[in-house]
Amino acid sequence: MPEMIRKLALSALTALALTAGGAQAAGEGDTHIIDYAFPFEGPFGAYDRNQLQRGLQVYTEICAACHGLKHVAFRTLSDQGGPALPEDQVRAYAANFEVYDAEIEDFRPAAVTDHFPRSGLDNAPDLSLMAKSRAGFHGPYGLGINQLLHGMGGAEYIASILTTYTGEEREEAGTVLYGNEAFPGGYISMAPPLYDEAVTFADGSPNDAVSLAKDVSAFLMWTAEPKMMARKQVGLTAIVFLTVLSVLLYMTNKKLWMGVKREAKSRANAQ
Ligand code: HEC
Repeated sequence: MPEMIRKLALSALTALALTAGGAQAAGEGDTHIIDYAFPFEGPFGAYDRNQLQRGLQVYTEICAACHGLKHVAFRTLSDQGGPALPEDQVRAYAANFEVYDAEIEDFRPAAVTDHFPRSGLDNAPDLSLMAKSRAGFHGPYGLGINQLLHGMGGAEYIASILTTYTGEEREEAGTVLYGNEAFPGGYISMAPPLYDEAVTFADGSPNDAVSLAKDVSAFLMWTAEPKMMARKQVGLTAIVFLTVLSVLLYMTNKKLWMGVKREAKSRANAQ
């Protein structure tokens, strides 16, 4: 019996090692994702409110020209654990956007209950859930094995897309494609959107291209998973609870059988 368990464990380990190794080999050719550090990583990680606010600014000033965030309601920008903007600022921010109101059959400034607009450019994908949909960026069949093994996910993928332009360009069927080390296939039709000092922050935070890329990627991680903190907390509570429960059950078990064991022992000694 132990032999069988040993064999099973071994084959499970081998399978895991194979998938992990295969992640690089069988992944999307030679795409290269940089393992950027984010404050929300690890079991105790949390979103950095200031970073999310900077990311929102980068999105607004640059990405919003082409990309929508149609699943995100403006009011969530004041959520604690998220960007946590004061409500009056959120109201003023929303009013910069126009939405079509079927009731008045006309456009009106957006209210906090409205959502961000959809993508303005047809072939630019909506970014609301991008950080989650690309979390399994490599690994066989998009298993996201890198997230498990290296703690890398959609935020690293997006930041890498933004920072690994090679400078090469080529034209295909009338579209210009830009060399990119992170994008599957090596060429993307999005022109490099970021450059050093493309955005200026009021508090003088670093605004080189890499910092901007990390800030906007953190913001897009939040749009895709606004409840990440709550999820981590529930997980942690569950682990602590289960640990305490195990200890209690172990002690109860000992106590329950204590008398029986003692009896058996004395009987054995008597014989
Ligand atoms: C001028 C328009 C334009 C701007 C500005 C722009 N993008 Fe894009 N983006 C595109 C287009 C077009 C695509 C589709 C590219 C493709 O599939 O080849 C794209 C694709 C993407 C993708 C998807 C990659 C994938 O895996 O499919 C991400 C992520 C992205 N953009 C993020 C951003 C961010 C973040 C910004 C702001 C810093 C930004 N983009 C600014 C046009 C733009």
